Amino acid sequence: MENLKKRATFASKIGVVAAAAGSAIGLGNIWRFPSQTADSGGAIFILVYIGCILFFGIPLMVSEFLVGRASRANTAGAYHKLAPGTQWKWVGRLGVLTGFVIMGFYMVVCGWTLVYFFQSLSGHLSGVTDFTANFTALQDNHVKQIGWMIVFTFLTTFFILSGVKKGIERSAKILMPLLFLLLVILAIRAITLDGAVEGLNFLFKPDLAHVKPTVFLDAMGQSFFSLSIGMGCMVTYGSYFNDKTPLVKTSVQVSVLDTLVAVLAGMVIFPAAFALTANHGTIVDSLVAGGPGLLFITLPELFNQMPGSMIWSALFFCLLALAALTSTISLMEVVTVYIHEEYRIPRRSSTLLVAVGVIVLGVISSFSPSFFNFLDVSSAKFMLPIGGFFISLFVGWRLDRQLVYAQLTNEGALKFGVGFLKTYIFLLRYVAPIAILAIFIYGLAA
Ligand code: PFF
Repeated sequence: MENLKKRATFASKIGVVAAAAGSAIGLGNIWRFPSQTADSGGAIFILVYIGCILFFGIPLMVSEFLVGRASRANTAGAYHKLAPGTQWKWVGRLGVLTGFVIMGFYMVVCGWTLVYFFQSLSGHLSGVTDFTANFTALQDNHVKQIGWMIVFTFLTTFFILSGVKKGIERSAKILMPLLFLLLVILAIRAITLDGAVEGLNFLFKPDLAHVKPTVFLDAMGQSFFSLSIGMGCMVTYGSYFNDKTPLVKTSVQVSVLDTLVAVLAGMVIFPAAFALTANHGTIVDSLVAGGPGLLFITLPELFNQMPGSMIWSALFFCLLALAALTSTISLMEVVTVYIHEEYRIPRRSSTLLVAVGVIVLGVISSFSPSFFNFLDVSSAKFMLPIGGFFISLFVGWRLDRQLVYAQLTNEGALKFGVGFLKTYIFLLRYVAPIAILAIFIYGLAA
């Protein structure tokens, strides 16, 4: 049996933020955020979303980091160490299951990004006239869809196994800003199209007419999904932090970056969708109907409005695939490290086991959009918030207050006012759990 290796720690400060931001920024921001925004009626969704980030997203991310660093263990082991002999370990186990469920549909979308990358390179995409048909054809072509999903799963496996994650972290530091820059360019192009203003209005001007009662549940789920919280991913990353990593500052930085990317993606998709769709009267309906295809239908259409469309779209889908890769690595890491550390199965076998499981789920998701949807909804809207609910209770009520303060302040090296620390505890003890519960009850009744 392989010995459990000494736990690694992230080398540089920027590496910490890059790894956590790499996990957070992914398809959730660029693919899922716009389709959720469309589905929930635009600006109001975004307002609720930002409220969720502030009131429980950031405090929960700090909490996950804290649990990870205080225990230096995988997500289930962490509860075991910090609350031995209790049932808290089930929170960790739920997280592992959630990671698995997310990968079961996420990898399929990752496969789509590769298909679109190669369609861009080959020039196929610039010749397409009906982008909806192009996307539907991909969904109907199961062999292709499954093949690329498997490729992406093995790509992730390769990085988990080869330990060249350092390489990917390092390149992410260059590529993520590039993705950001590209989104800015695309947003400018989209906003300057004729008729784009309506898209911006949809995005930023609250309009009660489009709001659905499920907007709270949707926005909460999206905030957990996008920040990678509620399943112990940030616990696992926190376990690699060194004693000097500032937990609060890192959480704020990651959350701000993540939200910026999501809003920027919205500023590309919506102006483009409104400007390029002839039938403005039913645009909101068709946006909703676009569902998971929104990104893959609207963006190629936007690229075709730009000189050198092939280069733009190849660059975009390549960067998108990389952003997705840093997220799938973090997802797979959570599940793999759990199996490796808790069952003492060698790392390589754990990884392969996880990969096979993910592929099975991915195959079913490829064949059945309703299964795909089921995995998406149950993980984002239920499993992650439930995980978050218990993490807030764990840190707010169960953990020793001295330990919490020592972690937040790095043993006193960082200065926070007493008011700040008290507010943090108050958010975790009352605000986050009650709000999560209330949103659940309201969302389910709606
Ligand atoms: N946050 C990632 C995204 O927005 O694409 C998805 C994700 C990664 C969710 C890791 C949860 C997680 F633990």
